[in-house]
Amino acid sequence: MAPKSVFITGAAAGIGRKTALSFARKGYIVGAYDIDEAGLKTLSDEIEDLGATPVIGHLDVTDAEEFAERLAEFTSKTGGKLDVMLNNAGILIAGRFEQLKVSTLHKEIDINTKGVVNGLHAAFPYLKATKRSVAINLASASAIYGQAELANYSATKHFVRAITEALDIEWSSYGIRVVAIWPLYVQTAMTANIKTGTTDSLGIKLGPQDVADRIVAAAEPNLFSKLIHQVHYNVGTQTRLMAAGSRFSPVYLTRLVNKRLAGSH
Ligand SMILES: NC(=O)c1ccc[n+]([C@@H]2O[C@H](COP(=O)([O-])OP(=O)(O)OC[C@H]3O[C@@H](n4cnc5c(N)ncnc54)[C@H](O)[C@@H]3O)[C@@H](O)[C@H]2O)c1
Repeated sequence: MAPKSVFITGAAAGIGRKTALSFARKGYIVGAYDIDEAGLKTLSDEIEDLGATPVIGHLDVTDAEEFAERLAEFTSKTGGKLDVMLNNAGILIAGRFEQLKVSTLHKEIDINTKGVVNGLHAAFPYLKATKRSVAINLASASAIYGQAELANYSATKHFVRAITEALDIEWSSYGIRVVAIWPLYVQTAMTANIKTGTTDSLGIKLGPQDVADRIVAAAEPNLFSKLIHQVHYNVGTQTRLMAAGSRFSPVYLTRLVNKRLAGSH
C-alpha cells in the first residue's frame, strides 16, 4: 500500500511541528510548509532521522497562488493524492481591541481566515481524488464564546468553526471529512508572551504534543468517532468542560462565566 500523505501549514514550530513529527512516525509522507524556512530545515532533519520522507517548502498561507503551487508540487510526489490537509498556521494578537493597530488586526484575519480558505480551496481536488480524505482546521476554545482581549482572534476562530461545519456537510458527497481541533491555551511561542484575564484564570496547561495527538486521532478516527461522524475534537479537560457547559447553559450565563474568567468588571 502507498504511504499516506499530509500537508501541514505553519509546520516549523509549535503544534504544526509536533504534528509533522507524529505523522512522520506513522510513516506518512509529510509536506511541511511555513514562512520560517530555517525552522523547516531543522524539522526536515528530524523527520529524516525518523526514517520518513519530508517535503518542505516556503508557504505564506495568505498567498493563494503560492498555496496552489505548493500543493501541486507536493501531490506530484504522492500520485495526486492527499490524505490529510492540515490548516494549522495562525497568529494570535492579544490586547484591548481599541489599542491594537487596525493593520495588525487585518493581518490576523488574513492569516487565520483567508489562509484557511486558500488551503481548503487549493486542496479540494487532491482531497476529492483520495478515498477517506480529511481537512483538519485549527479552531480554538476561543470559538466557544467571544473572548475579551482576544476579540479579533476569537472572531477568526469562529470563522474556522463555521467553514468547517459547512464544508463537512457540503463535501460529504465527495467522501471528504472536514473537522476542527479545539485546544485551549497551549505552551508554544504563540502564548509565550501573552497575559490576559483568561491566561491568568485558566493557566496554560496543554503542550503542543497534546494537540498533535488529537490531530492524529482526527485523521485516523476510532470506531466511535466514525459512528457519530465527529466534527469537533476538543483538546484537554478544560475545553471539554467549557464546550459542554456552553451547550447546556443559557447565553446570559455563558456570558457571565466568560466575563468572570476574563477578570472583566
Ligand atoms: N498556542 C495556543 O494556545 C493555541 C490554542 C488554540 C489554537 N491554536 C492554534 O494552533 C495553530 C498553531 O499555533 P501554535 O501555538 O503552534 O503557534 P506557533 O506560533 O508556535 O506556530 C505557528 C507557526 O505558523 C507559522 N506562520 C505564521 N504566519 C504564517 C503564514 N502567513 N504562513 C505560513 N505560516 C505561518 C509560524 O512561522 C509558526 O511556525 C494556530 O492556528 C493557533 O491559532 C493555538
